[in-house]
Amino acid sequence: MDRKDTDRIDFEDFSFDAFDEARDPRPQTTDFDRVVETAISRRGLLGVLAIGSGAAAMGLGVTGLGSLMSSTSAEAATARFGFKPVGIATDATVHVPEGYSWQILARWGDKLFSDAGGFDHTTGGDAATADRVFGENTDGMEFFVIGDRNVIAVNHEYVNPKLNLPKNEGGIPASAEDVAKLQKLQGVTVMEVAEGDDGWKIVVDSPLNRRINHLTPMTISGPAAGHDLLKTEADPSGTKSLGTYNNCGAGKTPWGTYLTCEENFNGYFGSTDEAVSLPEDFKRYGIKTGSVYSYEKFDPRFDLAKNLNEPYRAGYIVEIAPAAPSSTPVKRTALGRFKHENAEVVIAPDGRVVVYLGDDERGEFLYKFVSSASYVPGGDTSTLLDEGTLFVAKFNEDGSGEWMALTPETTGMSAPEIAIRTRLAASKVGATTMDRPEWVAANPIAAEAYCALTNNKNRGVKPNAGGDATPVGGPNPREKNNYGQIVRWYPEGQDHAAPGFTWDLYVMAGNPTVHDGAYAGSDNINEGNLFNSPDGMAFDTTGLLWIQTDGSDSNKGDYAGMGNNQMLVGDPVSGRIERFLTAPIGSEVTGLCWSADLRTMFVGIQHPDAPFPDGEGTLGRSSVIAVKRSDNAVIG
Ligand code: FEO
Ligand code: CA
Ligand code: CA
Repeated sequence: MDRKDTDRIDFEDFSFDAFDEARDPRPQTTDFDRVVETAISRRGLLGVLAIGSGAAAMGLGVTGLGSLMSSTSAEAATARFGFKPVGIATDATVHVPEGYSWQILARWGDKLFSDAGGFDHTTGGDAATADRVFGENTDGMEFFVIGDRNVIAVNHEYVNPKLNLPKNEGGIPASAEDVAKLQKLQGVTVMEVAEGDDGWKIVVDSPLNRRINHLTPMTISGPAAGHDLLKTEADPSGTKSLGTYNNCGAGKTPWGTYLTCEENFNGYFGSTDEAVSLPEDFKRYGIKTGSVYSYEKFDPRFDLAKNLNEPYRAGYIVEIAPAAPSSTPVKRTALGRFKHENAEVVIAPDGRVVVYLGDDERGEFLYKFVSSASYVPGGDTSTLLDEGTLFVAKFNEDGSGEWMALTPETTGMSAPEIAIRTRLAASKVGATTMDRPEWVAANPIAAEAYCALTNNKNRGVKPNAGGDATPVGGPNPREKNNYGQIVRWYPEGQDHAAPGFTWDLYVMAGNPTVHDGAYAGSDNINEGNLFNSPDGMAFDTTGLLWIQTDGSDSNKGDYAGMGNNQMLVGDPVSGRIERFLTAPIGSEVTGLCWSADLRTMFVGIQHPDAPFPDGEGTLGRSSVIAVKRSDNAVIG
């Protein structure tokens, strides 16, 4: 598509991930010969581990899957799920298994403060109160118990201007007020919630309620703080920025803070002067003169012709303290700058903090941060995420892998540069290009972690934006991978801080009703659990893996029999996967957390088509739902 078409958004039908790729396609020919050569040689060398379309007939022999799927524990696993799986859906509502129910907890536009009033479907709400309501496009979330209050912190990834500015032609912002409305509808909500006789509700006007958005003051900490690239006219110190952007997945620390993850931040910046010269590294991050929402026309902070350094102040993990509503969020640059998906925190046996981090772009990398100091309950945690080492994953074909440190010695870049131009640093050490790393989830009862590799139509076709080859093989074994897979790794010595690991694939999504061989998926895919594009993931306390999807819901062709996006649950031991929930057409399922008593599961339904959830003649509203068992038993 030409840039003008894609810049002037029609992305209500897309997830933001899909939209960002459509807007910024990777180069067709960069180093293409090298890609093909590498892919071919790996196929020759590795046989069954490399599965291109021409080799599909060889079938599936991915490490670990054979023993996984032939497990005799599959029958025993049935009891673990405790529900009758649901079939696919193609309608405009939510379905859960018999014996379960769901209700709406929060919709875009629901008031957090009573001065916001009710939602107006003709205007999508007014600009003045856009930061007094639950924001748009719910995404990652976490549940906190603060004193005797229950609190959910939840992301608002992006906006759908046609819905949010329904009176504007094409949803195009026409004033500073329109832009401010969009800016306020994104970011994060912190809200107190309570369960009463008629279910879960937002506690309106709670002192813990808070909106954080594109205008909220932030502190920048870690290696990049104060670096010249982070300095602007408004902030010559390079340590104070405004706003957090495209907040996708989330994370939670054991010291009670929320981690929000800045993903496709590039799209917010544009230039009023098309001729402006952009730094070379902007290409790797997809930052260009055309923006998604036209912020630059009404807010000079987003105009690259005036503020070239502003994009260096986005793309980080941001730490928020829900218990301290007036605290300043902190951008933790030690965790790198890229299109952050989520932040899965694990404490290593020696107390060091390990944070797993995916960079969701075709052919980008999987990272982990390991703190220098150890976490001590009750101790000072203010610099734990500032001092440490960032590593990037290399997956070897033999099922081993290593975490390669990104340091001045290994990359030839300074520590601040590594924190700011992290993708370039990771390319220098030869990390494995991945099929779009989305959420990472660590099993609380076994030393293993999983990453959803959602899909990658460019696998084996073209390199990433840095020119790194994307050969077919290893954890990315299918050319033009349209279904996705979940890779898992077992850290050496059962220590997530260790430099080594072994890996296998937990599942390769596919469609055995349409294809034979690799595109049929792994053996734990069957007609009863078809899905594509795994994305959100979280483990429950019993060690079951909940998997949410953000893929095609066309229910046709390659996707026939998959229906709408959905949430499934997988048993890591048997490999068995069953469908638990189906979402309204047009939506993706993203974001998952549990109440403290584990009797309620909160699930995010993002960008549903109208009329979900309010019925005919209304706007589609992204919503958080609360799912319960009718006998009020625990569900996780
Ligand atoms: Fe916002 Fe990669 O999902
Ligand atoms: Ca996602
Ligand atoms: Ca996605």
